[in-house]
Amino acid sequence: MLDRIYVALDYPSRMEADRLLDRLPQGVGVKIGLELFLREGLSYVREIKYRGYNVFLDLKFHDIPRTVYGAVSQVADSCDLLNVHAAGGLEMLKAAKEASLKAEKPPKLIAVTVLTSLNQSDWQEIGGAGALAQGAEKRALLSREAGLDGVVCSPLEAARIKALCGEEFLTVTPGIRPQSAASQDQKRTATPREAVEMGCDYLVVGRPITKAEDPARALFEIVEEMKS
Ligand code: C5P
Repeated sequence: MLDRIYVALDYPSRMEADRLLDRLPQGVGVKIGLELFLREGLSYVREIKYRGYNVFLDLKFHDIPRTVYGAVSQVADSCDLLNVHAAGGLEMLKAAKEASLKAEKPPKLIAVTVLTSLNQSDWQEIGGAGALAQGAEKRALLSREAGLDGVVCSPLEAARIKALCGEEFLTVTPGIRPQSAASQDQKRTATPREAVEMGCDYLVVGRPITKAEDPARALFEIVEEMKS
């Protein structure tokens, strides 16, 4: 189960990130997002990978196809999982996939459908038409059409996306909140147990672990909830 969890290293520098990693068991995946990446750069990502971690580089590229092609080319060799925004459109998604395949060991490439911090009213506010869940499904189908390996989505959408796009199409889900935790800025959340039941392949967990007094224990409890 440990290898189905990515811990979000949402820290301002490697000092805090390394301190957390020292307290966690080996075998858990790590997610490096914009905050840490902009400070420590690709050399830190490579170092973490060299230290044996499975690395999800969460930079959510969203730009014109040529620019995203170039961006993916810069990082594809340094991570195991990489993402772009499905909202960038079919051509952008295809360009990202093409660039990722040039790496010696291509990472899995996934697309963010709709951020899990948005709910239905936020979706309408940014011009989304109809139900947010349908928008997420449409973007998942588009990502599959472009040849991507899966999507980042809400756990609440995972089962439907699997049914539409196929069992092997990966669902990577943030917005995971153990029963006892607060939802914070996440709006489409599920517990670890619900996420597994709904068919999520990988769970991204940040604050419920990083802000815990005992992060290893918090991780262990999440694994136990997943097993139950
Ligand atoms: O602290 P929390 O568990 O909410 O962290 C979730 C992590 O997943 C954050 O690093 C956030 O950037 C990331 N993420 C997300 N929603 C997406 C894609 C990534 O929350 N659609």
